[in-house]
Amino acid sequence: MPDHVSARALAVRPFVVMDVVARAKELQSRGRDIVRMDVGDPDFATPDVITKAAEAAMESGDTGYTQSAGLPDLRDAVSARFAEKYGVRVSCDDIVVTQGTSPAMLLLFGALLDPGDEVILSDPCYPAYPNYVSFLGGVPIHVRARARDGFRMRLDEIEAAIGPRTRCIMINSPSNPMGTVLPPEDLAALGALAEKHGIYIASDEIYHGLDFTGQDHTILEFTDRAFVLNGFSKLYAMTGWRLGYLVAPREFVRPAEVIQQNFFLCANHFVQAAGTVALTQAGPDVARMREMYDERRRYIVPALREVGLTIEHEPTAAFYVFADARAWGEDSLALTYRLIEEAGVAAAPGIDFGPGGEGFLRFSYATSLERLHEGVARLKLWAAAQG
Ligand SMILES: Cc1ncc(COP(=O)(O)O)c(C=O)c1O
Repeated sequence: MPDHVSARALAVRPFVVMDVVARAKELQSRGRDIVRMDVGDPDFATPDVITKAAEAAMESGDTGYTQSAGLPDLRDAVSARFAEKYGVRVSCDDIVVTQGTSPAMLLLFGALLDPGDEVILSDPCYPAYPNYVSFLGGVPIHVRARARDGFRMRLDEIEAAIGPRTRCIMINSPSNPMGTVLPPEDLAALGALAEKHGIYIASDEIYHGLDFTGQDHTILEFTDRAFVLNGFSKLYAMTGWRLGYLVAPREFVRPAEVIQQNFFLCANHFVQAAGTVALTQAGPDVARMREMYDERRRYIVPALREVGLTIEHEPTAAFYVFADARAWGEDSLALTYRLIEEAGVAAAPGIDFGPGGEGFLRFSYATSLERLHEGVARLKLWAAAQG
């Protein structure tokens, strides 16, 4: 028997920003001060009310398996959130709780795709999407999302990409890496396309709550032919807790639950209990963090423009700025490493998010205002030294 790594594993593209993080950490461990604007990991501690709820749950013995679909209280709280926030009725029976938004992607694409089925994705997009699709035998089909269009895919280009094997269009608004939002008219048009072609919209809503100028809209306001993915990582500063959920059309719920039963069993019991408290009691903490992100955003966007980067479309959400850095170099990966080594500033290379991201850098402002000021000062010096 040949001893080799599977083609499936080898086909998964590395998440380059994680290599950037490793390099930044290596330099830090040797005493270099690096301003970290690379990862989308909130710098805030998880709010006390959530941590205390987890402690209380552990103490009261919430340490065993739960239903694979998740604790009824948590699913009720998610359902109530859809009703209050968007005026949409989502039955608890249509929700499967997962260990983060990422496993919800496996459930979604696992339940939806047969080999050769296609998923339409934007380019650039969150890098895990095409990897999940390919890993599960599907085919990612990319449609450009251009800076000059506010990083919205054009509807005529989406429709031209729809073929007999298309199963769904994946969207992510507010978006990583672009920090932009799809307006409700786009969501309505996408819903109409799904209905016209008998396909689905998969909407990753993990950055809902972090739109600083507008109001969030779920895809479920516009169509029932939709899956929603969401999680607690970003809004509640809970990246390491691993909690999320999938809302699916009824016929996909049981298959998703069965995948969950086999591959993950259930999400952590006490984390689910804490998640219920996050949804019902952490509102003031969320408002506080949101206000600070917005303050940073209002500083960093003009500051990055001043140091020479181009930001055509104002980012208004999701603690990211996706800046055109071609004035400093066409190769975003090479530029990222230069900036770490020479300026002591870590960003994420645009190429990580697809060929459409080449020439761009993603700056995360999930770090303090003070560090952002320091990062900008360093970039200014570095840019001046380039002549
Ligand atoms: C768009 C998007 N979806 C999903 C995730 C992963 O979220 P989780 O921590 O809930 O798995 C991220 C993390 O950066 C993200 O940016």
